[in-house]
Amino acid sequence: MSQTNYIGKALNRVDGPAKVAGTAKYAAEFNVPGLAYGYIVNSPIAKGKITRIDAAEVLALPGVHRVFSHENVPMLAILDRSYKDDVAPGGSPFRPLHDAEIKFSLQPVALVVADTIELARYAASILKIEYEAAPHETDIETKRTKGFEPGRGKTGFTPPPPPRGNPDRELKNAVHSIDQEYVHGTQHHNPMEMFGTTVEYLGEGKLNVYDKTQGALNSQQYIRKVFGLSKEEARVISKYTGGGFGSGLRPQHQLFMAVLAALELKQSVRVTMTRQQMFSFGHRPHTLQTVKLGTNADGTLAAVQHHALHETSQFEDYTENVVNWSGMLYQCANVKLGYQLAKLDVYTPQDMRAPGAATGSFALEVAMDEMAYAAGLDPLDFRIRNYADRDQNLDKPFSSKKLRECYHEGAAKFGWEKRNPAPRSMRQGNMLVGYGMAGGVWDASQQKAGAKVSLSADGMLTVQSATNDIGTGTYTIMTQVAAEYLGLPVEAVDFQLGDTEFPAAPVQGGSWTAASIGTAVKNACEALGEKLLKQAQKMKGSPLEDAKFEDVEFVNGQLRLRLDPGQAVVIRDIVQASGETKMEADATAAPNLLKQQGYSLHAHNAVFVEVQVDEDLGTIHVTRVVNAVAAGRIINPNTARSQVLGSVVWGISMALMEETVMDHQFGRYMNHNYAEYHIPVNADIHDIDVLFVEEEDDIVNPLGVKGIGEVGLLGVAAAITNAVYHATGRRVRELPIMLDKLL
Ligand code: MOS
Repeated sequence: MSQTNYIGKALNRVDGPAKVAGTAKYAAEFNVPGLAYGYIVNSPIAKGKITRIDAAEVLALPGVHRVFSHENVPMLAILDRSYKDDVAPGGSPFRPLHDAEIKFSLQPVALVVADTIELARYAASILKIEYEAAPHETDIETKRTKGFEPGRGKTGFTPPPPPRGNPDRELKNAVHSIDQEYVHGTQHHNPMEMFGTTVEYLGEGKLNVYDKTQGALNSQQYIRKVFGLSKEEARVISKYTGGGFGSGLRPQHQLFMAVLAALELKQSVRVTMTRQQMFSFGHRPHTLQTVKLGTNADGTLAAVQHHALHETSQFEDYTENVVNWSGMLYQCANVKLGYQLAKLDVYTPQDMRAPGAATGSFALEVAMDEMAYAAGLDPLDFRIRNYADRDQNLDKPFSSKKLRECYHEGAAKFGWEKRNPAPRSMRQGNMLVGYGMAGGVWDASQQKAGAKVSLSADGMLTVQSATNDIGTGTYTIMTQVAAEYLGLPVEAVDFQLGDTEFPAAPVQGGSWTAASIGTAVKNACEALGEKLLKQAQKMKGSPLEDAKFEDVEFVNGQLRLRLDPGQAVVIRDIVQASGETKMEADATAAPNLLKQQGYSLHAHNAVFVEVQVDEDLGTIHVTRVVNAVAAGRIINPNTARSQVLGSVVWGISMALMEETVMDHQFGRYMNHNYAEYHIPVNADIHDIDVLFVEEEDDIVNPLGVKGIGEVGLLGVAAAITNAVYHATGRRVRELPIMLDKLL
């Protein structure tokens, strides 16, 4: 790895002061003049139709502007596909306020717009809507034999590879085998910032749209298609996002509502969701998985079989990669993977942090633990015995893979060797102590993205890209990348994002932002660097007169000869000498497919967990976690560590707390609120240790980064489940592990 000045350094968040001082505004915090407020009304039934809406009483209230419903919303985007967004799966996206049909409980059916949010909310509460209910089906248990293989999926969906070897025969002939079902319920994203959109009406149909999203361009393209707006008419701005976890990948219905109302009323409008309404769209789907494993006498895997069935809506085929990982995480010649969907009367599921892998690795890695016990092997040793040096799904080598180092370094840091393998053999007073471990694999992707750089004569560099920062640290690491490649102090770099007027970038998701935007920023900096060199060579008595671009470097605010650093020009002086107020360059970056085609590109992790379970009460405390992550080069250990800490907290939550419970009689989520949908508080979180095993990898992308937003979650829930087994001797196969499952 080449010597760096900024990349790899633990820079504090550059957006930290703005967040602490309260100047970092979320979408619903832009107080534009003349703002009206919209409140969304949700359906109490899961299926059927609206038979009558009586808005007379509501409209008579002074200060109420309008009640929007399917009865008065103009015909929009006549072609179904015009509601498609970048991240839409196959099918026909839900069209808010389009017709009388009810497709899921909590479906938005009306928008009341008034002078104040209080009035809008009150008016919504007395709006009379009558429904005719039809029988609904919301229970996946009724669909066990009715699953189907999705034909089309959203971007990033890879159907499971065909079977290899003879998985049925080898499973039957195995010395030891297991065959178990693993289940987790529905989970909802609960980012700190709830969904909200402020539309500033600028006149003549022109809008500034402040939206909570993970992709300003995706929101812009959606409203452009639905409302027939030009780029200039619909600028979308999203500077700060208070968490996304996938919920903001697709435009949500408050965006539609706010734009509709602003265009119809010719007025600025804000629509926000309540915490309860955050359960009215997208979720991690309720999933049933079966894993069958068999081992040979030497502890190698004889066969791996993994099947998953999860719910989707009636109108879209939501897909995620649940089982594919089971064909690549371990070496095995006999593999069979299956993946099916079942249609229910629920909203379309949506990507949630490490979609598919977080849940697939739960099933696989608990099964691996069960298999290790059945074969009389240590769970870590069992994994190392079956280490995959090659991606057998793709039949390609990995561009880099330091999972082995993650196993060893993680185990050493954790003290795995102190583990007594027998379940229920370790205790501290009244607490049963258990050690568990698991691992995971996630994609290292890069998407096409653009960036623009502009260096002013006072030496300040502005960098722009229409990406987002959902809390991941994009502002900070892109500042570091730009500082690195133009040799400027980080204080001289202003990285700007979240504006559709900036160069195009994909949604922030898939852990691809560092690789995608990072490479674009690098390319833009190098394009400007070449211009700076040319300009420097025109300067009188330039010491760089005969230099080629390869001969120079940008360090400490100077452009200088690599081999003779004394021969230098101050970068700021170059801009001044140009006679212009600034020098600019832009660039795009896309994955180098030629370089990558022979390789499998993936990040990995290994998680070690200690739990303490109260023998009498069944309460579970995750007292220690070591998460060892191999995700290429780490641009900033601070922000990367934060991502993994967040992942571990999320994994604890997934293992022990989170589940949206459906009352199938009503087809309605019962706990759609923070009182009953549980997530951890500080008191639930104890010691978490994050360890990075860096990899040198110039195949994934020129920066050598693999992305860190999702990989840290993998294996956490499984490691906790395995530790609970080790502590108690009780094997739980259904998340979340509430104490009733241990008593
Ligand atoms: Mo992530 S689920 O791609 O935001």
